[in-house]
Amino acid sequence: MAGIPHDHYEPKSGFEKWLHSRLPVVSLVYDTLMIPTPKNLNWWWIWGIVLAFCLVLQIVTGIVLAMHYTPHVDKAFASVEHIMRDVNGGHMLRYLHANGASMFFFAVYVHIFRGLFYGSYKAPREVTWIVGMLIYLLMMAAGFMGYVLPWGQMSFWGATVITGLFGAIPGIGPSIQDWLLGGPAVDNATLNRFFSLHYLLPFVIAALVMVHVWAFHTSGNNNPTGVEVRRGSKAEAEKDTLPFWPYFVIKDLFALVVVLVVFFAVVGFMPNFLGHPDNYIEANALATPAHIVPEWYFLPFYAILRAFTSDVWLVQIVQFVTFGIVDAKFFGVVAMFGAIAIMALVPWLDTSLVRSGQYRPMFKWWYRLLIIDFVVLMWVGAQTPSELSSWISLIATAYWFGYFLVVLPLLGVIEKPLPQPETIEEDFNAHYGAKSNAAE
Ligand code: HEM
Repeated sequence: MAGIPHDHYEPKSGFEKWLHSRLPVVSLVYDTLMIPTPKNLNWWWIWGIVLAFCLVLQIVTGIVLAMHYTPHVDKAFASVEHIMRDVNGGHMLRYLHANGASMFFFAVYVHIFRGLFYGSYKAPREVTWIVGMLIYLLMMAAGFMGYVLPWGQMSFWGATVITGLFGAIPGIGPSIQDWLLGGPAVDNATLNRFFSLHYLLPFVIAALVMVHVWAFHTSGNNNPTGVEVRRGSKAEAEKDTLPFWPYFVIKDLFALVVVLVVFFAVVGFMPNFLGHPDNYIEANALATPAHIVPEWYFLPFYAILRAFTSDVWLVQIVQFVTFGIVDAKFFGVVAMFGAIAIMALVPWLDTSLVRSGQYRPMFKWWYRLLIIDFVVLMWVGAQTPSELSSWISLIATAYWFGYFLVVLPLLGVIEKPLPQPETIEEDFNAHYGAKSNAAE
């Protein structure tokens, strides 16, 4: 796909020409900053920058934390307390990193659901979407391993439960589990490898973010109407777009500051609100906590994992048909990973020819229900199992899969979309008026 036509960097001075013919780095920065961006982007488009900020924040605070942290089962817990009490600004550093992870996941969920509403995953942005899903998976792996490092009770038991899931794979499961842990149980070898990988993954994520940005710079950004920028000529494209600098840079920075006000309020006044008090008790392999819960951002998928107990008839049928090879635990593991995989496949499951949810009257309702479903899954994932919570988990899980596998493919066929604007310019003028457009 050809990019949107716009002015490219032209080296002028002798030095610029010299550098440009050897390393066109100025041109890369110029083209990135001046990239034509649909002028009707709304506030849901600011979260990408918030995400980029979170990644940098996590890497910077993480590197300094690592200077004072000791990845050994006898010392990890105490080294974190040492960071909190003795290291200059240590408690701030740790709270920034722990709550930074929460802000990162909050932002990624808004970003993903933005994409799901405006159809940003549809052609020609499937690669942007898939790379985004890979980033999300790696974020989950990094978040999970990071939570093990303070070596509190939730760290230890969370690691035991989650690595135990791999043990549920028929046949090879226990060997995979041993291999992941570096032994028969969560211990020093586990802590060491988790520390090593937790340090590595953010850099892999950073590399993938570059590919992500490269991909949507190639296709151009989506926008609230889902209508593409006109690419016939530069003059036409300019009617639909504005350069990223200064318009969107200033807008994004303003939004980032607003988000950071909330973030710093949490870090400063309620830094442990999102954490679990049990993680202030050192890991003890002989004392299982009454209720093991993961961090809030894993709860929806944890709920899906737990939804499939051996009482569920679907599990019983599958168990019967597979001669008991697939038991309830393995079924839950497949469902949990399946729930994420199904999101990755959404570009091919959504059959509608209309991109933006704004013009899809039926889709809007199902989409709203999906958001409620996600919140319900998050809530139920934190509850102690009961008959009621099992039912709620099952229904919410069924809707999650139903939305992607049944609703989206069907809606494309039965839904009658609303009329869309012809161009982004038309949408922009309808919102902001020809007057403000003329004043540009
Ligand atoms: C470290 C994590 C991530 C970073 C830093 C990041 C960054 C960005 C940025 C800067 C944009 C353009 C502006 C915007 O839409 O806000 C963007 C667009 C996009 N992102 Fe992400 N992203 C991340 C994760 C994800 C994930 C997990 C997904 C979902 C699978 C995703 C899907 C998309 C899509 C489809 C677009 C295109 C939207 C458009 O063209 O307007 N991203 N991303």
